[in-house]
Amino acid sequence: MSMIPLCSTVPTSRQIPGGAWGRSWGWTAREDGALFSAWPGVDLTIAVLDSLIQWSCLCENPTGKSPQEMKIVTKLFSSRLQQKMCSTYVVTFFTLGTVLLFTACSDGHDDYDTRSPLSLRELADGRGILIGSAVGTSSIAHDMQYIDTLAAEFSSITPENAMKWSATEPEHGSYTWENADSIVAFATAYNQAIRGHTLVWPNEFAYKDTPDYVSNAPDAETMQRYIDDHIEAVVNRYMDVVDRWDVVNEPLETLGSELDQNVITATLGEGWIVRAFQQVRRLDPSAKLYLNESLAERPGEKHQGLLTLVRRLISAGAPIDGIGLQSHFLFGPPSIDQMVEVMRDWETLGLDVAITELDIPERQPGEEEAQATSYGNVVAACLSVETCREITFWGFTDKYSWLNSFLGPESRPLLFDQNYNPKPAYFAVHAALVGQE
Ligand code: G3I
Repeated sequence: MSMIPLCSTVPTSRQIPGGAWGRSWGWTAREDGALFSAWPGVDLTIAVLDSLIQWSCLCENPTGKSPQEMKIVTKLFSSRLQQKMCSTYVVTFFTLGTVLLFTACSDGHDDYDTRSPLSLRELADGRGILIGSAVGTSSIAHDMQYIDTLAAEFSSITPENAMKWSATEPEHGSYTWENADSIVAFATAYNQAIRGHTLVWPNEFAYKDTPDYVSNAPDAETMQRYIDDHIEAVVNRYMDVVDRWDVVNEPLETLGSELDQNVITATLGEGWIVRAFQQVRRLDPSAKLYLNESLAERPGEKHQGLLTLVRRLISAGAPIDGIGLQSHFLFGPPSIDQMVEVMRDWETLGLDVAITELDIPERQPGEEEAQATSYGNVVAACLSVETCREITFWGFTDKYSWLNSFLGPESRPLLFDQNYNPKPAYFAVHAALVGQE
């Protein structure tokens, strides 16, 4: 028998023809008003009644439907019916509900083959890790397929740019929070964790995130004050919703293994990094504090350079909880063994690791299968080390990837194609989370 997955705690996603803007708690609505049951095999009326009864009887909207969605279904179900719904249907609903609940909950996942495949976030929940995506502000504002997929598949969000210094405090003391706030609102609505990215990114190898007033500070003391003020403002604003921070991003040389001699480090020495970690710990004691680095995912000089730096920072009093391995595999992906070796080194130091910005560009056109294997390997590596707690992708659709401009659109680095079709990479991640290799 087909049944509603009553034990599910997150929205499930189902492609509907014509593009959905509704998310899928039981049912989804298309812009033209057509309704679809979100669970194959489950009658649409039952799926809609489920949320309508909760809505009218409990006088609230517990399934998180948007006002537009509620408008559509209330148009279809007359207000008279709605008023009578409690008395007419409540007995049926609770009887049916009790039977379904008993069957769905009592025998674990015996009903697995009658429902949609589990989403990445459901699988990751089961594995005790977060599965995340970087998110751009404009995509969550206007692209309904983006919204639907992001909400259904990911349990964590990293603002791709909106929380950076250049975005939040372009002039000293003048804050622009709108974009970061909109991402926070999205994550809150869809019950997603938020990775705070990033408080200070001093390295200017490819991009300059530090505003000019910081680089041009008249003296070291003023520069340090700018850093302190910035950290305090951002952490105070988002500490209730952010559970982990990339406190410092890319302190090492991008293509080397030494401390990067950017203007902040050249002016203040590495003491500013220690101070930044101490300040965030003081402001937000419950958050996990990460140092996030690029191109340090395999054994070698940069990994050794990072180990040396982090040991030094910890001895100087920096409260570092974890290392973010960005994992932009522009030069080809490492093997599972290489990644595990790196993660174990951090485990030995007592630190967590997180894969924070994963993307794997195709190196030759049409390399989808090799790309998929590499994605599966990253998941397998993370799952095999207990201290790896998160896999965040740097976006999820090839439609929006920083690599479209950095390498070109033929790099197709992510899990879904431009039209939101899942690629072999998606299925490889899915299978690796299930535990099939
Ligand atoms: O917002 C403006 C927009 O108004 C304008 O029309 C457009 C024209 O180019 O530029 C837009 O801003 C760009 C922004 O991306 C949004 O697309 C910035 O110029 C551009 O610098 C910015 O690039 C971001 C880059 O970090 C620098 O902040 C990338 O999207 C983002 O993916 C990239 O992410 C970094 C991580 O934070 C740290 N690790 C490496 C990673 C990849 O470089």
